[in-house]
Amino acid sequence: MADLVIEGLTKRFGGVTAVEDVNLHVADGEFVTLLGPSGCGKSTTLAAVAGLDRADGGRIQVGGTVYFDAARGIYRPPEARSCGLVFQSYALWPHMTVADNVAFPLSLRKVPAAERRRRIEEVLALVEMERYAGRYPHELSGGQQQRVALARTLVYQPAILLLDEPLSNLDAKLRDRARAWLGELRTRLRLTTIYVTHDQIEALALSDRIVVMNGGRIAQIGAPQDIYERPADPFVADFIGTTNFLPARVVTSAPEGGRALLELADGQRMEVQADRAATAGSRVTLAYRPEQMRIADGATDGGAVLKTRITSRAYVGGLWQVGLDLAGAPLRLETRQPPGGEELHLWLPEAGGILFRGGADVAA
Ligand SMILES: Nc1ncnc2c1ncn2[C@@H]1O[C@H](COP(=O)(O)OP(=O)(O)OP(=O)(O)O)[C@@H](O)[C@H]1O
Ligand SMILES: [Mg+2]
Repeated sequence: MADLVIEGLTKRFGGVTAVEDVNLHVADGEFVTLLGPSGCGKSTTLAAVAGLDRADGGRIQVGGTVYFDAARGIYRPPEARSCGLVFQSYALWPHMTVADNVAFPLSLRKVPAAERRRRIEEVLALVEMERYAGRYPHELSGGQQQRVALARTLVYQPAILLLDEPLSNLDAKLRDRARAWLGELRTRLRLTTIYVTHDQIEALALSDRIVVMNGGRIAQIGAPQDIYERPADPFVADFIGTTNFLPARVVTSAPEGGRALLELADGQRMEVQADRAATAGSRVTLAYRPEQMRIADGATDGGAVLKTRITSRAYVGGLWQVGLDLAGAPLRLETRQPPGGEELHLWLPEAGGILFRGGADVAA
């Protein structure tokens, strides 16, 4: 068990800066997820920690051991680091049984036979695969193969665990089960872990903290609820969950936590609780989650009722997802009420929306 410190990590590939000045401290036993769009530098960060790739700048330390320090010219090769790596592809040896696959890292490390048997049994029980010890990889499901891959990593007791999209090859149902199982295993193991995923539900469900990356840099670090409820910028708001962005202009200034009067794109005015200071005359973007809005049904206490045009409707099981247009701004509503007609009166609460300065430069 150990903590992980990453300081000023930078990695370039030719002219491309894949990771730029990444700073992250993962506490002993903490489970941290790197989340972000394709190409944002998640795998490059993991590869630098594992030593698969030599970074250009910064420092990486696990427990008391310096793995990499550009300034001091320190670089430990992967075999001299204590990192357990699991990738998207299962990469099991096809000609070896489950038990032999798991034994392989122990034979490499010359662990005596009796000790080897004990550890294989223990780790297969941990991933609930003890009944499959004699099977070959092709006789297992994708989820089971991924458990064996994880067992093969855990068996040599690494100081930290690095998981790069380990569930992304599984179909949706299997992936749900694997996620629940990984969540249980995580609570039992309490191993310092960096997990990489594209899947925000996975990130929200599994992590102590989430690191949202954008273009090689960290956009925000926080607990799942912080990231979802208090995104630092429109990029994070748009990347995690669905967000509706309403362009607006500030009519009366408000300090942080005060009440600001806004004019929305359709000319309508509404008062909001400003979670950030707002200056009269400035352009802002007001962000709401689809579940914060509802169809106006007469009785509204505060907030605003906006007249919108329905652009699409889809039944998604239990709920309708409704596409709306407010003076050119696209919005999405989730509702149990089947929406009829072409227009919809939408109610927005005055508290709970997030105010961003400027227009919304959101992710593609
Ligand atoms: N070996 C390489 N040579 C050149 N460029 C690379 C190499 N590896 C990564 N890159 C570039 O570095 C950037 C970050 O890549 P990285 O693989 O870290 O992204 P990622 O966040 O893991 O994306 P994905 O979600 O698609 O796996 C990308 O622009 C990528 O094209
Ligand atoms: Mg990747």
